[in-house]
Amino acid sequence: MTKLWGGRFTKTAAEWVDAFGASIPFDQELVFEDIEGSKAHARMLGTCGILTEEETNKILQGLQSIQKKVEKGEVEFSIALEDIHMNIEKLLIDEIGPIGGKLHTARSRNDQVATDMHLYLKKKVKMIIEAIEEMQQALLHQAEQHVETIMPGYTHLQRAQPISFAHHLMAYFWMLERDKGRLKDSLKRIDYSPLGAGALAGTTFPIDRSFTAAELGFTNIYENSMDAVSDRDFIVEFLSHASLLMMHLSRLAEEFILWSSQEYHFIELDDTFATGSSIMPQKKNPDMAELIRGKTGRVYGHLFSLLTVLKGLPLAYNKDMQEDKEGMFDTVATVTGCLKIFTGMIVTMKVNHMNMEQATKQDFSNATELADYLASKGIPFRKAHELVGKLVLLCLQKGCYLTDLTLAEFQKASPLIDEDIYNILSPYEAVKRRNSDGGTGFQQVRKQIEKAKKLLHPNL
Ligand code: ARG
Repeated sequence: MTKLWGGRFTKTAAEWVDAFGASIPFDQELVFEDIEGSKAHARMLGTCGILTEEETNKILQGLQSIQKKVEKGEVEFSIALEDIHMNIEKLLIDEIGPIGGKLHTARSRNDQVATDMHLYLKKKVKMIIEAIEEMQQALLHQAEQHVETIMPGYTHLQRAQPISFAHHLMAYFWMLERDKGRLKDSLKRIDYSPLGAGALAGTTFPIDRSFTAAELGFTNIYENSMDAVSDRDFIVEFLSHASLLMMHLSRLAEEFILWSSQEYHFIELDDTFATGSSIMPQKKNPDMAELIRGKTGRVYGHLFSLLTVLKGLPLAYNKDMQEDKEGMFDTVATVTGCLKIFTGMIVTMKVNHMNMEQATKQDFSNATELADYLASKGIPFRKAHELVGKLVLLCLQKGCYLTDLTLAEFQKASPLIDEDIYNILSPYEAVKRRNSDGGTGFQQVRKQIEKAKKLLHPNL
């Protein structure tokens, strides 16, 4: 097939060489953005008198009819035409004749592809923000039901202090809130139109870049045509925010995997989000959570891949930049899929609150309570810490827990200890009393839930 740029060539490339250079197998994902950008460009050419009204209308009708055909799945793209931009242009020429060739006046594929990417990402980032909110809603929903569900809180994966299960879940709510904030902020930089930058230097035609920017819903235009066609920061930024988001998802995924193991047995994932084993009939595996944890790797990979592609690239456009697409598409699909699955897992999981609470009674995670108790009676905290450490050792030797000690045993360690110690040592009380700002005390947890709700539903 003759190339749209074939004029200065005397030989055509072999099919396999064409295939190597082509991006159409993946950049067809941009088909609607490409048509949208072309429509805006055509309207601008008409408004600025670069094309006649008749030519403009013909091109617009042609683009509309191509769009319909694509929607109906009637269009087959060609590898020989390299990418989505040239495929659409060729389809337009086939549709309306040589006038179609006027669409590319005052434009280059370099500003065209950048425009497509900006349009695409702007849409997708907004969708991802919505998907994050749905997951936050799911966390909030579970948290509201489990403010007084007590579980062990861990450090070093060792039982540390008892906490409210809602508090644990809400920690992820706030991480997601930051992810959302970062993505929202990145929209500011996505919201720039490169269209009209041409190949790199602008154009001699009297174009109106603000017109196309407004048509496409962009708030700003790039100030520098070279920056406009070579900037991929907005994609790097997206991949970086997506990586952080995936890191958060993978941490929660890991917790779900642990919690649903027989060793913990804190939650049970719904059958619809688990799988069985082909050999061991008893197994119920948290595959979806594992997959989310695993998929985090590919998103990190895409971030590093693009940073590496861009490193040392001279201005302006280089074909290397065609490598910006697959990672971005895959990240959008991965992140969207993971958020959706996670939301479903959270909403449908069963919480074994008895097991959680039981776990807090079979350990020494109330040791800090005793130390705080002694400190509040005037013993320096360091001394109290040592005293309690000795009592823990005594328990370990006797094979019991702190609450199993007699009052006499407590008082032998310190006469300041009273009968009320048994109440103090109960995990429920321990959680309830951690009422400092942002602490796990029930009152505090309810406060953060209220705040979170207002964030999600400002009009309620
Ligand atoms: N397919 C190309 C890409 O994705 C479009 C831009 C091509 N521009 C060029 N001068 N070869 O980057």
